[in-house]
Amino acid sequence: MDKFRITGGKPLRGRVSISGAKNSALPCMAAAILTSERVTLHNIPYVRDIITQRRLLEDIGATVLTPELRTHQISASHIEIFEAPYDLVKTMRASVLALGPLLARFGKAKVSLPGGCAIGTRPIDLHLRGFEQLGAEVKLEAGDVVARAPQDGRLRGAEINFAKATVTGTENLMMAATLATGKTILNNAACEPEIDDLAELLNKMGARVRGAGTSTIEIDGVESLGGAEHTIIPDRIETGTFIVAGAITRGDVEIRDCRPEHSVALIAKLKDVGVQIEELNQSTLRVSGTPKLRARDVTTEPHPGFPTDMQAQYMTLMTQVEGRSAIAETVFENRFMHVSELQRMGARIQIDGHTAIVEGPVRLTGARVLASDLRASASLVLAGLVADGETSIERVYHIDRGYERIEAKMRALGGDIERIRESVTGALSSDLEGDAAMA
Ligand code: EPU
Repeated sequence: MDKFRITGGKPLRGRVSISGAKNSALPCMAAAILTSERVTLHNIPYVRDIITQRRLLEDIGATVLTPELRTHQISASHIEIFEAPYDLVKTMRASVLALGPLLARFGKAKVSLPGGCAIGTRPIDLHLRGFEQLGAEVKLEAGDVVARAPQDGRLRGAEINFAKATVTGTENLMMAATLATGKTILNNAACEPEIDDLAELLNKMGARVRGAGTSTIEIDGVESLGGAEHTIIPDRIETGTFIVAGAITRGDVEIRDCRPEHSVALIAKLKDVGVQIEELNQSTLRVSGTPKLRARDVTTEPHPGFPTDMQAQYMTLMTQVEGRSAIAETVFENRFMHVSELQRMGARIQIDGHTAIVEGPVRLTGARVLASDLRASASLVLAGLVADGETSIERVYHIDRGYERIEAKMRALGGDIERIRESVTGALSSDLEGDAAMA
């Protein structure tokens, strides 16, 4: 298992380019199951979860070509297996995104029920209830969800009221409804930009989806969908992570190829903290200056609120600013795994229920720490960049799931960070080199 070794204290300076959004690429890849024609996706990030999703598509019989490193041409003309097995689902929960498209196009699907994970129990009951409302029969058999469309093989449009806004749940139901008979209305739908991006792809494929990006989405079902070409939106969480990296190291970082309008709540909060963020143009931000930063409370919320995927990185920033901040996590039940690691580096943080109270500023000191999930790992990288001495982060495969070569990007900005390879088979680069060879 690879590690990162970071020596803190260097301000980050220079330009960084943001990769495509993992959480948009994953559902868009699953959407290719909905048609027998080719779907071409550009700006796919070069991260482990994408490799897993590609494996899932290939396992069920799709072909995936990569004529260029970040372009995937997916053809699902010969799907032979209608299931996502436990081996895949246990490594990546987003495998459940195969359920909606398989059920919609083939009338049957089997997906292993994901268990809990480092950030909470994360059930998929709302996805399943939604499929039932579209007429599917959904059963749990030996740990697998087995779903079947009504006898004629087609789902039926319905009005679905989500009890809670769910991102992948909205995506799954939206995909399923594209091929259902009649109209589907999704109420209390999640509003994340990734949902809008998926809807854009689906409409290019011939679907009739309106209102994505708002809390009410209407879908008029069609008989079949066709091929399309689409470019994935930039990753707003990678963008936010680099904004915090610039701010926390008191650097000067130009963040290119991003979409600031997808990060309005985050940018507003960071400006309130005192971070100097300029919008140089529609796709470029600059974080610079050494202003005095102030502690500010934050509460995570579904989009357009402050994203839970930036909570850990924001917490690291709060350890470096004057004052006391309360960070409330409302989206996931157990997303404070980074706290004990930050404490090992000297952070003063107390957890009170769903709220972490951070006292700053403290001088963090380098230590051996353990990455527990994707965003927690990013918070530890940020902590390592400002800590005195050397930080060693173990289990960085978590960060490789969703950040494209974060250490290379940080190093290009002057960060003293390197990957220590512990095994060839575990290294992301071996997968990536394999991919490149196939391209
Ligand atoms: N929930 C239920 N039942 C369901 C579905 C969700 O109770 O059937 C609950 C969850 O347990 C959670 C809340 O609803 O408490 C919101 O979960 P949601 O379904 O929106 O999360 P998700 O779709 O599983 C996606 C991202 C996450 C991101 C969340 C919230 C993908 C592949 N994953 O997860 O990304 O944190 O939305 O924005 O899009 C990450 O990238 O690090 C990551 C975890």
